[in-house]
Amino acid sequence: MKFFQNLVWVAIFSLSGTVAAQTPVYLDETKPMEDRIEDALSRMTLEEKVALCHAQSKFSSPGVPRLGLPENWMTDGPHGIRAEVIWDEWDQAGWTNDSCMAFPALTCLAATWNPEMALLYGKSIGEEARYRNKNVLLGPGVNIYRTPLNGRNFEYMGEDPYLASEMVVPYIEGVQSNGVAACVKHYALNNQEYDRHAVNVEVSDRALYEIYLPAFKAAVQKGKAWAIMGAYNRYKNQYCCHNQYLLNDILRKEWGFDGVVISDWGGVFNTKEAAYNGLDMEFGTWTDGLTNGKGDAYSNYYLAQPFLDLLKNGTIPESVVDGKVRNILRLMFRTTMNRNRPYGSFKTPAHASAARKIAEEGIVLLQNKNNVLPIRLCETKRILVVGENAIKMMTVGGGSSSLKAQYEISPLDGLKARVGDAAEVMYARGYVGNIDGSYNGVVSKVNLAESRSADELLDEAVNKAKSADYVVFVGGLNKNSHQDCEGGDRTSYGLPYGQDRVIEALSQANPRTIVVLISGNSVAMPWIDQVPAIVEGWYCGSEAGNALASILVGDVNPSGKLPFSMYVKLEDYHAHSFNDSIVYPGLNHQQIYKDDIFVGYRWSDLHKKIRPMFSFGHGLSYTTFEYGKAEIDKKVVRQGESLRVRIPVTNTGNRSGAEIVQLYVSDLKSSLPRPKKELKGFKKVDLQPGESQIVEFEIDESKFSYFDDKKHAWVAEPGKFEILIGSSSSDIRSKVAFELE
Ligand code: BGC
Repeated sequence: MKFFQNLVWVAIFSLSGTVAAQTPVYLDETKPMEDRIEDALSRMTLEEKVALCHAQSKFSSPGVPRLGLPENWMTDGPHGIRAEVIWDEWDQAGWTNDSCMAFPALTCLAATWNPEMALLYGKSIGEEARYRNKNVLLGPGVNIYRTPLNGRNFEYMGEDPYLASEMVVPYIEGVQSNGVAACVKHYALNNQEYDRHAVNVEVSDRALYEIYLPAFKAAVQKGKAWAIMGAYNRYKNQYCCHNQYLLNDILRKEWGFDGVVISDWGGVFNTKEAAYNGLDMEFGTWTDGLTNGKGDAYSNYYLAQPFLDLLKNGTIPESVVDGKVRNILRLMFRTTMNRNRPYGSFKTPAHASAARKIAEEGIVLLQNKNNVLPIRLCETKRILVVGENAIKMMTVGGGSSSLKAQYEISPLDGLKARVGDAAEVMYARGYVGNIDGSYNGVVSKVNLAESRSADELLDEAVNKAKSADYVVFVGGLNKNSHQDCEGGDRTSYGLPYGQDRVIEALSQANPRTIVVLISGNSVAMPWIDQVPAIVEGWYCGSEAGNALASILVGDVNPSGKLPFSMYVKLEDYHAHSFNDSIVYPGLNHQQIYKDDIFVGYRWSDLHKKIRPMFSFGHGLSYTTFEYGKAEIDKKVVRQGESLRVRIPVTNTGNRSGAEIVQLYVSDLKSSLPRPKKELKGFKKVDLQPGESQIVEFEIDESKFSYFDDKKHAWVAEPGKFEILIGSSSSDIRSKVAFELE
């Protein structure tokens, strides 16, 4: 008996000993990630390696089933989690559990100038992605606002590289805290939609490094983004998705990126370039007419069979695919293979309140003559709301960021809910824009059909306006083609659908006409002097109407500021000032950024004749702020030292509010032309009525530098500088000079 017992113990010991010895390194979470990657790589066949490098469906790529390595699942991004699509198609799959929370567009997030809001945004949308079992979120977008015609500006963070850099980092950190990779897009120079699949951008190294790359660099180095998406367009005559300069030289070598490079959908055109020039994963390719619905489409991808063939016949060495697989495995170990990542959550009340808070902090009060806003409900009997955008669903449309939202509160419904019985809220359509409310199979619940003529609609609105205490016109752009929409640019700067005429007529009928623009872009405002109040209401997602109502009636004191300059006319934008199609939108697929580093306020600051309607950094409040004198801790800054700046700011009004204090650096004399000033710091401070706070900044040498393209290095040139502190880029309240040694 004893003998048998011993035998059993020996058997158990040796069995568990074998099991322990057999736990592969790549599955052993106590081992360093790089060791696990090497171990997994060493177990894979060439075919398995190649399979990782390309899609298997519209939004997924295979894992290694034999080794238990999971698939990768991507989702748009960047404003909510896209509805499930059919395996091979863009159309939604008709699932009933995939309607998401829609967060405000990134322009609105940028307008909060509040990194805490970016963190909240990233954390919340990351939780939604995680819950839906996606390990890569295709966003955020940080292409620079170079022209107000760009159909995708609403997905980006404005014209200033510093603001975009500061806002993108916490967004990424929030997303990735869920074990979901943020895929920063579109790297790089994808600053328009017109001809995006072909246009070759020529830009100086200075403009590239000072304007177009900083937000990507911050995303990689500070945000530690795990993924980046190549852009559709070309740079130095190479597609950005397999671009030697952007991907190998800058992203990998200069910045030390260790994450995965994902192509934009259909952005790959060449196997050898894709193999050698830094791309890791190919998505969305349309190959030789074989793709449409055909089962084997994916094996025809450039990084599929054609890649395998070149590897097998020795044209491309195996080390090339190994490099890609290491990056892809790193993505997996950081996301799907991390057993400790949270589980996520979906369309929760917490996400609704995050969406609302971000919207409320991002909405910008552009103009408020005679303090017509906030609406004083106690003195109000009737409010007239006019305009298609007061009822149109804005989460549907616009391209890949289109959503199937669980709900979307329209401006009209939001205002009605807030006003309740306090006053009557009437509605008039005012104009007809685009009544189509569907996108990729997602159909908006609002029927916008209208049979009355433009004149009849105008008459109705004007008549009702006469008897109202306030008129709230809600117009702007929308998510239909050639508005704020992917795949094309706007065709003119003016408001579409005859809205100018409606606004002018309303302002004559009622002096308390408030214009709310729903858009991701600036528009011409010929009626600017005729209306007392103008609000930039952005695309605010599920909670849009609630957030707007709380601003309009004053439950929330507006504190958003513009992330881009708004000019009177198109030619005031530098890219349009040349009136030369080689500068915009390009000629024969070639484009030259002659506007160079002088984008937005960097350009208009040099030209007294160009006065912005509303400057970069502008935004009003229902209270007022007074700035004291800025002080610095030294008059001479030596190499390696940083400068401390302090300025007192006081809330001089009678309600609490938040002010965004902006710090600009001005290099008074330099050997290269430089902008008059550049944003290098900002802080949002909450102040009670009468309260003062000292706002402090610490700025180091990097903030005084420019990019010297001859030396290919950032240079802080000794000489005289000024620190300008202001409430916007054109409202400087205090200046202080120092010398850089
Ligand atoms: C867009 C990307 C998007 C991708 C997947 C492309 O057309 O440019 O931003 O992530 O589609 O939908």
